[in-house]
Amino acid sequence: MNPDISLSSEIPETEPQRQYYYIEKAKQYVTEKAREIARPLTFCVTTFGCQMNARDSEKLRGILERIGYEEAAEDEADFVIYNTCTVRENANTRVYGRLGQLKPRKSRNPHMMIGLCGCMMQEPEVVEKLKKSYRFVDLVFGTHNIYKFAELIVSRFESGGMVIDIWKDTDKIVEDLPNERKYSFKSGVNIMFGCNNFCSYCIVPYVRGRERSRAPEAIIREIEHLVEDGVTEVMLLGQNVNSYGKTLDTPVTFAALLKEIEKIEGLERIRFMTSHPKDLSDELIEVMGSSHKICRHLHLPVQSGSTDILKKMNRHYTKEQYLELVRKIREAVPGISLTTDIIVGFPGETEEDFQETLDVVRRVRYDSAFTFIYSKRTGTPAAVMEEQVPGEVVKDRFDRLLGEVQSIAREVCSVHEGSVQRALVESVSDHDSTLVTGRLGNNLLVHFPGSPDLIGTYADVELTECKGFYYIGKACR
Ligand code: 5AD
Ligand code: SF4
Repeated sequence: MNPDISLSSEIPETEPQRQYYYIEKAKQYVTEKAREIARPLTFCVTTFGCQMNARDSEKLRGILERIGYEEAAEDEADFVIYNTCTVRENANTRVYGRLGQLKPRKSRNPHMMIGLCGCMMQEPEVVEKLKKSYRFVDLVFGTHNIYKFAELIVSRFESGGMVIDIWKDTDKIVEDLPNERKYSFKSGVNIMFGCNNFCSYCIVPYVRGRERSRAPEAIIREIEHLVEDGVTEVMLLGQNVNSYGKTLDTPVTFAALLKEIEKIEGLERIRFMTSHPKDLSDELIEVMGSSHKICRHLHLPVQSGSTDILKKMNRHYTKEQYLELVRKIREAVPGISLTTDIIVGFPGETEEDFQETLDVVRRVRYDSAFTFIYSKRTGTPAAVMEEQVPGEVVKDRFDRLLGEVQSIAREVCSVHEGSVQRALVESVSDHDSTLVTGRLGNNLLVHFPGSPDLIGTYADVELTECKGFYYIGKACR
């Protein structure tokens, strides 16, 4: 089955031209197949994990649409792609479970293809397992060569067998490939890839590779194009945005980049994540204090409140340094909303250590916090640490932490009740079609009466009632 590929030009050697060549080639295969089955081929990209993956999925979607696939629900799609996460073990378990469910569907539908990519694929044991027990998967690739998606699809069509392409690391950043945004009015923008921090529990540096920053000009150009295309809010993405630019030939600070982005006319809101406390500079705090566009929200993962545990986690700050940082930020940016990530049950965590975490939660009074049970990741230093904490102790701490975090978040959220705030309307409310849902600067949601034509616009909304983690409101006019 080899349709007449009549691309006259030679395969370009440089990117992204090479990928545009493969996009055209893949399109011919897809068109041919669609003709064979007398309907368009469909795809579904399912994303696991973080915003970084969500952004990568937009790139996958962009390429798939370019080559002629149409988007569909997962249970109908001819091409199902899982963009995986591996930060905690249960993320892997979920993917294996979902794959098991796809197998019978694939044996019924000869046109069906299954693709797996993302962080989990960077683990050699995973790929071994797929090769051995999941032979029905068609395409396996990792985090470093996602830009080659079209080329890999062509390899799959031409070879007819399982295609696996995993790179250990890369220093390459390929610009200007297609992508299909989920929202027309807001977008994630990668500013850097990888992570050099090696927090002792975390697998990300092993699966996302070494830190590399995009050139500031490329970032600015991308945002300018997004704004021309109707985007007013960007989320700058990186594992540790505070160390942005350090590895560039001409180093640039994250604060300096923000100042440049602030100048882009038509851009209304700037968000970023994730910040590492050890690299959050006074310069950045100052820029946040004086900016008119940077949202008053900072996600500042603390991970633990115990200085001993933080040391074992290789986080490079103490409890006191973290609290001092919070004080400085609050002084410079009054009313800023703070959110965090916390891990309970890190090896060697005692009840006293856990009490230190609760103490930080009570002192900082986070607007919300993502709480995680420590998950042992093979290959990380923490996996071989002694004194792994027994499951029932961890569960008990987790429940106590969650209770504390939620009751504080409710109180913090209710402070804004009665105020009028600007919201970017994102969608019709999931629960009530007479309401629309808007996002506030502090990242919380407000549901208020409105029609779908408000989507993508800003509204001043009175927050009439706090519901704990979101508000009910009414538009002011
Ligand atoms: N176990 C539990 N949580 C983890 N995280 C990262 N690695 C692990 C792990 N091994 C959490 C951290 C990080 C968030 C994205 O995931 O809190 O900030
Ligand atoms: Fe993982 Fe730490 Fe890097 Fe975040 S900063 S991705 S927690 S190693």
